[in-house]
Amino acid sequence: MKKLLLANFKSNKSITEAQQWLDTFIAEVDWSSLKDDGARFEVAVAPAFVSLGEFAYKIEEASVPLLLSVQDISAYPAGSYTGAISVANLAELNIAYAIIGHSERRKHFGENSAMVAKKVEQALDGGITPIVCFDEEYLEEQISNITAELVGKCVFVYEPLGAIGTGNNVGVGKVTEVKEKVKRLCGEVRFLYGGSVDDQNVAEYLLVTDGVLVGTFSKDPLNFAQLVATATAV
Ligand code: PGA
Repeated sequence: MKKLLLANFKSNKSITEAQQWLDTFIAEVDWSSLKDDGARFEVAVAPAFVSLGEFAYKIEEASVPLLLSVQDISAYPAGSYTGAISVANLAELNIAYAIIGHSERRKHFGENSAMVAKKVEQALDGGITPIVCFDEEYLEEQISNITAELVGKCVFVYEPLGAIGTGNNVGVGKVTEVKEKVKRLCGEVRFLYGGSVDDQNVAEYLLVTDGVLVGTFSKDPLNFAQLVATATAV
């Protein structure tokens, strides 16, 4: 299973700023080891929706194996859902992943486990792999809301609330414990960690997970390129 290094811009960056990030990041990363069929890592970026078109174009033009992720997706298909971004809207953008149910969406946009489950269905219908965020307290509720046959198609990311954007990253022992819990509940699924990951702590998380979700530290393209270099050197 490839390990995933995913940058989440959240709602930061204008279109121009995001483009500058991408230009610098593409220039800075040594893509050769990531291009092999046997590559051990996947690198992905989740900019705001407004930047996706430009990112898809530039990534293709540069011919680098950088994957695109969205930060959210509509719980509904194409239709009369003003303001929503459906999988149909994303069709030509070559989107690999959708971050779904981030705690910031639960906190600020009232998302709950039932809505997250609907988004999982939509993503999978559109050929996009859902990355389902959770904290321990609602893990079981979240999983029980997702149709059993779809659970195995999801990536799960453990994002302890107190670790997000605080510098208080959770110890590897705790991450391992939660990983075991996910395995008991879901079987073998891809399991990531997110919460104050940086280039200093990424290597230890990669020993016990299938990848990391990086917010604050990925805002600077040089930082995220350094994280990729550190991770892939291990
Ligand atoms: P952080 O964010 O790296 O800033 O803690 C992680 C996330 O919210 O996915």
